[in-house]
Amino acid sequence: MEIVVLNGSPKGDVSVTMQYIAYIRKKFPDQTYTILNVAADIKKIERDTATWNKMLETIRSADLVLWAFPLYYLVVSSQYKRFIELIFERKAQDAFAGTYSASLSTSIHFFDQTAHAYIQAISDDLGMKYLGFYSAEMRDLLKEEERQRLEKFTSLLISAVREKIAVQQENAPLVWPVLAYVPGTQQKTTRTSTKKVVMLTDSDGSSPNLSAMTDRLFRNFAGSVEIINLHDLKVKGGCLGCCQCGYDNTCVYTDDYIDFYKNKLMPADIIIMAGSVHDRYLSSTWKQFFDRSFFKGHVPGLKGKQIGFVIAGPFHQIPNLREALAAWADNGGCYAQFVTDEVSGSQELDALLDTLAARLVECAEKGYIPPHTFYAVGGHKIFRDNIYAGMRLPFQADYRYFREHGMFDFPQADLKTRCFNAILIPLTKIPGFRKKVFADIKHHMIRPFESVLRNA
Ligand SMILES: Cc1cc2nc3c(=O)[nH]c(=O)nc-3n(C[C@H](O)[C@H](O)[C@H](O)COP(=O)(O)O)c2cc1C
Repeated sequence: MEIVVLNGSPKGDVSVTMQYIAYIRKKFPDQTYTILNVAADIKKIERDTATWNKMLETIRSADLVLWAFPLYYLVVSSQYKRFIELIFERKAQDAFAGTYSASLSTSIHFFDQTAHAYIQAISDDLGMKYLGFYSAEMRDLLKEEERQRLEKFTSLLISAVREKIAVQQENAPLVWPVLAYVPGTQQKTTRTSTKKVVMLTDSDGSSPNLSAMTDRLFRNFAGSVEIINLHDLKVKGGCLGCCQCGYDNTCVYTDDYIDFYKNKLMPADIIIMAGSVHDRYLSSTWKQFFDRSFFKGHVPGLKGKQIGFVIAGPFHQIPNLREALAAWADNGGCYAQFVTDEVSGSQELDALLDTLAARLVECAEKGYIPPHTFYAVGGHKIFRDNIYAGMRLPFQADYRYFREHGMFDFPQADLKTRCFNAILIPLTKIPGFRKKVFADIKHHMIRPFESVLRNA
């Protein structure tokens, strides 16, 4: 069986994910494997037609295509994303259609499900037969139990391909909104008072709706507002995953990105992010923007900002994309609001964009950030535990930040609750006491609020 591995790590062979592939190769030596370093070689793949064509031939000969990648910002790396874009741009879907596929990732399990849902949708769009995913915690291979699990997964993949099992597609093809947006002449103006607005777009002129929406919004803000096209920044490439920034947040790249992030984004109160749907995400240019912010490690560099996502395309048909963006914002301590061109008419879109401008300013003035949801509450615990222990050496800047900001909030530090439990839990072994406590548990739960309500 021919297994073609599409390596999504910008680190090429020197990749954690590729260690899992190496393990699979050792345990299943009867299969043939070809590894294509599509993320690491993306510039060559874009430039050199011969490389591209040779790669497609390899993919065409595959019985199984394995998307193997590290998680990058809740999805895949911008380089991998670019590779996926090229498939559609160059109309190379036929090289993939009809072939079985599966995905394998390594990560710290922070939004691994959104990454695999993305790859599954891409597989569906390419007409592939997607068999499922394997999401390894990056150090899983060190554990015997996990190695066995990986072997079981691989043998299931091999038997599925051999037996040509039936596979159901889960993602319907995307249908683009039909609206050709023409903004009205009546323009609302929202005073930004002292609030700074920065609008980012990756518009390349190919989406008239995106340009019109951005323009309408721009004219809405009266005050400090600047519009920056991501294509105008000199950014040399996507995050390399080298983690050299982990010590003191210094990136190995010397280009416009860090300066732009520190001097344009960090001082802003409101950031508009305008882009159009490209396959099942935004563009790889946008992905590069997110990935490169990794020089801040796991420190929320844009904490407290109001984020307005302005999106052209079938955004509401991709709940996974909404989840990835909302979770990114929540984890960063931001408030994200969304407007898309999936509406019935231009007037409706005018009203939505005008409202978005007004709401962003009002929220910025009030300093309103919603309470964290599961996205950030869960995310915090994952990062906290990793930075405290396993990731402490490479991410020392994170460690310092977490310590200084009291973010190592392990439950065992809560002495009051521990003392309370140490006394009360043994007492509940006494049937009479237990009966009394549990009979009245509803009141126990609301008792701590009494003084707050009394004094409110
Ligand atoms: C830019 C960047 C973004 C990352 N984003 C995530 C993420 O969203 N979720 C996660 O669990 N791990 C994330 N990671 C951790 C990597 O997925 C993990 O270290 C992976 O094992 C690296 O694999 P590789 O060596 O094959 O590239 C990120 C790492 C980098 C460098």
